[in-house]
Amino acid sequence: MTEMQKDTASAPAGLSAAASNSLAGRDLLRLLDLSPEQFELVLRTAQQLKQQWKADAAAAQRQAPFLGQAVAVILEKPSVRTRVSFELAIARLGGHPVMMSDTHSAFSRGESIKDTMMVMERFVKAVVIRSFEQSRIEEMAHWASVPVVNALTDDFHPCQGLADFLTIREHKGDFSKLKLAYVGDGANNMAHTYLEAGALSGMYVHIATPTGYMPQQKYVEECQRMAARTGAKLVIGSDMAAALQDADVVITDTWASMGDEAEHQERVQVFAPYQVNSSSFELAAPGAIFLHCLPAHRGEEVTDEVMDADYSVIYDEAENRLHAQQALLQLLLGAEGDSC
Ligand code: CP
Repeated sequence: MTEMQKDTASAPAGLSAAASNSLAGRDLLRLLDLSPEQFELVLRTAQQLKQQWKADAAAAQRQAPFLGQAVAVILEKPSVRTRVSFELAIARLGGHPVMMSDTHSAFSRGESIKDTMMVMERFVKAVVIRSFEQSRIEEMAHWASVPVVNALTDDFHPCQGLADFLTIREHKGDFSKLKLAYVGDGANNMAHTYLEAGALSGMYVHIATPTGYMPQQKYVEECQRMAARTGAKLVIGSDMAAALQDADVVITDTWASMGDEAEHQERVQVFAPYQVNSSSFELAAPGAIFLHCLPAHRGEEVTDEVMDADYSVIYDEAENRLHAQQALLQLLLGAEGDSC
């Protein structure tokens, strides 16, 4: 299916898809599927939803714009935060989450992607998928007439990126005035995602990673083209201190992502100089914050003293998965977002 063929007729009564927002009926397979304006729309909608739920949860739940509609969440890899936050986000919208994982995954019996997605679209209004290769989720989105959302692939984790930038805005404000340092595995899905989020938001993103673990060049080039539009600055190198120097936001991620476990011991050796600890964190700007998408390997990529410091906002970040994904689903399913 092309984007134009995606089903936008599913917007609930009173919420015309055509009149609501430019994301209605779209897929989100990576953050660069969004324009800078759409990225901002999701974040502002998430801020608004979060405020509404904190102020009056009962009133917010009564809005339930997708009452009686189902959204499938297919998890081909383990998850805690993604599973819980999507299940709650769908419920908050009044929808019914259909959770499929492990041996109950849609693809666990070898059924084709085409057959699976063309069956799923008969039942649900959107499909959220955690999977493997980016090409695999692209094929899923090709066959589905309903929106498909990437809940992590080997190359990208856009929902985590939305939650992280919501968290950064809450704690540090204007993206265009901030430097984000990401240190560690530069070839993983979070490194690619921070390049994309930085490019969309106009931020200065500096990645420090060992040679041999650089982000994929095709993604870097796409992000640099977007950065030229937004004024973002994207720097990639191996100098840990250069990345951390005067950074307002310091981020790392596990050194062995899902699928890399066999290389764990080798990676611990290679990445050891890139550990975020209280000593390396001193290079960051006064008032800098620390983020980690979790799960963390405490004592490897980050020490306990950083994880548990006052400047660590890792649990705000985890909570924001819920608000960001609720906003995203609301917009993709055709309801209105906050104006911006
Ligand atoms: N950060 C994240 O995606 O967490 P889970 O793997 O637990 O879903």
